Amino acid sequence: MNEIESSELEPTLQPANPVEQGSDVRRIHFDLFTLFPAMFAGPFGESIIHRAQEKRLISIALHNIRDYTTDRHHVCDGTPYGGGGGMIMKPEPIFRAVETVLTQPPGWTLPAEDIYVNLPAWDPQAPAAPPPATPIILLTPQGRLFNQAVAAELSAYPRLALICGRYEGVDERVRNQLATDEISIGDYVLSGGELAAMVIVDAVTRLLPGALGFELSAHQDSHSPGLGGLLEGPHYTRPQTFRGEETPPVLLSGHHAQVAQWRHEQALLRTLSQRPEFLRTLPLSKKELLFLQRQGWSPSDQP
Ligand code: 6GU
Repeated sequence: MNEIESSELEPTLQPANPVEQGSDVRRIHFDLFTLFPAMFAGPFGESIIHRAQEKRLISIALHNIRDYTTDRHHVCDGTPYGGGGGMIMKPEPIFRAVETVLTQPPGWTLPAEDIYVNLPAWDPQAPAAPPPATPIILLTPQGRLFNQAVAAELSAYPRLALICGRYEGVDERVRNQLATDEISIGDYVLSGGELAAMVIVDAVTRLLPGALGFELSAHQDSHSPGLGGLLEGPHYTRPQTFRGEETPPVLLSGHHAQVAQWRHEQALLRTLSQRPEFLRTLPLSKKELLFLQRQGWSPSDQP
């Protein structure tokens, strides 16, 4: 990474979401709360997310929860009341970090010289009032399942706060009093919410107009598998023949209508073979139904 690029990982100090009257540019500022901010440097410093930051479509502020501790050893975890294994993330550093950051404008981060020693005033007993319109999302395997529809929902907000859980869990008061939403990215257990946060930032950023550098289909939504669409069919590029496998001749024919029809049939076939349950909820045309039935599919097939 060169110097210009590495500066992109620094918090943006200008407001990420100036009210742009008469502009339909959608921008999002992400506030990420984590004990491991360094985990994000790679994924956020490359490719689409890197360019989306350069284009100011998104800005990302990483907040180290540990910076908001005031005890000598900067403890962020504790043993669970009632016994049992594992450590639980303490509530105070998380509440203090989230309430401090969200009562500041988007783009604010704790100045390095203030870490631990010169934190903005905060009362552990008095709830601060973060702007109610900003979702505060706790990443946890117990959350609602993330998919393309949730990504689309989140992409409508100008600011999102993501709290990355670690250890064996997070004190229940964070769920009950701070988080406004809980999200899981799948039915498996990760060591922490950081990888889930990267997944969500990526999926949401891709939905912002201009983020991809090429035009997504205008009916992207109806074509997204997560939103009840079809899976994409096969793609080929040069060489025309590789290890004895030919590119389907229709793709070389120059017949745009035939190419489009072939691609659509391939999308139906791929969905049938990989995710047949998608077909049950799709509004299929007579022609599509006939095509699928000729492949042995019946509309009453169970997923
Ligand atoms: Cl959001 N966190 C953790 N720790 N594990 C997960 C997850 C989140 N989503 C799926 N597995």
